[in-house]
Formats: sequence, C-alpha cells, structure tokens
Amino acid sequence: MFLTHLSLKNYRNYESETIEFANNVNIILGENAQGKTNMMEAIYVLAMAKSHRTTNDKDLIRWDEDYAKIEGKAMKKMGRYRLNLLFQKKEKKRNATILNSSD
Ligand SMILES: Nc1ncnc2c1ncn2[C@@H]1O[C@H](COP(=O)(O)OP(=O)(O)OP(=O)(O)O)[C@@H](O)[C@H]1O
Ligand SMILES: [Mg+2]
Repeated sequence: MFLTHLSLKNYRNYESETIEFANNVNIILGENAQGKTNMMEAIYVLAMAKSHRTTNDKDLIRWDEDYAKIEGKAMKKMGRYRLNLLFQKKEKKRNATILNSSD
C-alpha cells in the first residue's frame, strides 16, 4: 500500500496540514519540536487506529481543541482508498472509515 496524501486537523501540534507524498523517497526535514515525529505517528495511527506513543487518545488532540482528524489517501493494487480517523474528547471510541475512492 502506498500513502499518497495525508491531511491533519488539530492533530498534536498541527492545526491544519496537508501533505502530498512523492512517488519515491520522501525526506521529512525540520527543526526540533516542529512535528516530524508527530507526522510519522499520524501515519502509524491511520494504519493501526492507535498510537505507539500513548495509550490515551486525548494526547493526540491539539491542546484546547475538541477533536483531531487524520485523513489519508492510499493506493493499493486493487484501487484507491480514503481512510478517515476521528478522535473526539467527549467520545471514548474512535471513529474510523475506509472508503473506496475514484480520486
Ligand atoms: N496534543 C498536542 N497539542 C499540541 N502540541 C503538541 C501536542 N502533543 C505534542 N505537541 C507538541 O509537538 C511538538 C513535538 O513534536 P515532535 O515530537 O513531532 O517534534 P520533532 O520534529 O519530531 O522534534 P525532534 O527533532 O526533537 O525529534 C512539541 O512542541 C510538543 O509540545
Ligand atoms: Mg522527533
């Protein structure tokens, strides 16, 4: 599976960010505490529906916000998929959807 697109809303230190990945190697560069590890964590969370860094989903939500959203577009042999994950402070359960997509 190849992740072509990642969109973060209120995820850790990201207020709103969209990343389009290149076809080959992608290099994530940035100063300390800019959010490189957070971005990698978001990809893991999108794949596993849980973090490897915390057992508390609320840690993933940007401080002072009520929810965090991760959206991804992925390409597999069989086609394209849209992956969505929503974490809400007031909800214990995560909300996840995987949709077949034509774009
Ligand atoms: N829930 C949150 N809301 C807002 N900011 C957060 C949240 N969780 C973590 N942060 C912030 O994210 C930043 C750290 O991001 P991250 O660990 O991804 O940085 P990094 O680019 O990997 O840094 P380094 O080069 O030191 O590894 C810190 O400033 C931290 O305070
Ligand atoms: Mg780091």
